[in-house]
Amino acid sequence: MSKHILVTGGAGYIGSHTVRLLIKEGYKVTVLDNLVNGHKESVPDGVEFVELDLGEREVLTKFIEHNNFDAVIHFAAFIEAGLSMKEPEKFFENNCVNGTNLLNAMVASNLKTIIFSSTAAVYGDPVSASIKEDHPLNPVNHYGRTKLIFENILSMYAETHGLKYTSLRYFNAAGADPSGEIGEDHDPETHLIPLIFRTALGKRKSISIFGTDYDTKDGTCVRDYIHVNDLAQAHILALEKLFETGEGDIYNLGNGHGFTVKEVIEAAEEVVGHLIPKEEDSRRKGDPAVLIADSEKIKSKLGWQPKYTSIKDIIETAWKWHKDNPGGYEG
Ligand code: UFG
Repeated sequence: MSKHILVTGGAGYIGSHTVRLLIKEGYKVTVLDNLVNGHKESVPDGVEFVELDLGEREVLTKFIEHNNFDAVIHFAAFIEAGLSMKEPEKFFENNCVNGTNLLNAMVASNLKTIIFSSTAAVYGDPVSASIKEDHPLNPVNHYGRTKLIFENILSMYAETHGLKYTSLRYFNAAGADPSGEIGEDHDPETHLIPLIFRTALGKRKSISIFGTDYDTKDGTCVRDYIHVNDLAQAHILALEKLFETGEGDIYNLGNGHGFTVKEVIEAAEEVVGHLIPKEEDSRRKGDPAVLIADSEKIKSKLGWQPKYTSIKDIIETAWKWHKDNPGGYEG
């Protein structure tokens, strides 16, 4: 019988891509999402969908008790670093407290296998050119802090309750499924690539470049962009490993190449075939200058290999989604 996976935040950007891949790989999937940031339209037909907030402790506990899940993939969280600096309490409540509700409900039902969406934001300002998993953990924004707190909670539950978990620390997720059926749609949108395309589509006057005085080759921030389907693939591999051996771990996920904000805009201009209006702006609070992953560990231990290694290919898949869905899921 196929294994049954509960995907929290499965109607979100990375969650919805992972759900598609899980189904392709023969898993049975239930999506749990409160639809605050997720999109019901992204849940494929035939997949069970439950609208529930992880803050609803009792309902959640009963729901997990009444199902026979084999594992959880936990995406549900607030993700926006800038916002976390203004409203840390909301991030703590959702990312730490509600996440712990999920773990308690799991433990109560003897469900002990979980993959957690962590982030490169747990590292803060890098002290090395590329970041390995043993890099110091000094997040510079509250978002990264809440994700690190939850990684620590997972480790406590592993020690005390025998939880088996893997944390995947994503660098900058980008792109969309080439089918064009699902893509990135946040409200408000704060991410660079979707905002570039909104500008290209005439929905914004210009794209702001946040900071041009960083110590990088053109003064703008460097990020490691990783295709969302490559991220999804890593979840499948991590899950298989947990099922086979019960051994969890912490892995970085990036391409290992950094691109400046200006380079990303240039690549997008090449893809859309025209210049995109841009303006230089001041630095955004909580932004490290450079974030580049060393993902050798997941490559060697789980055999993960990103399929999308060129920034242009990644951006092309994103453009297909944005061009065909200029208003996002709502049209
Ligand atoms: N940027 C601009 N203008 C914009 C938006 C962004 O110049 O209008 C810049 C940012 O300053 C940053 C880069 O583009 O230097 C990328 O910014 P994003 O907002 O797209 O992504 P972040 O790097 O801030 O954050 C993303 C995810 C986080 C994750 C982090 C890890 O949103 O969840 O990557 O690297 F933690």
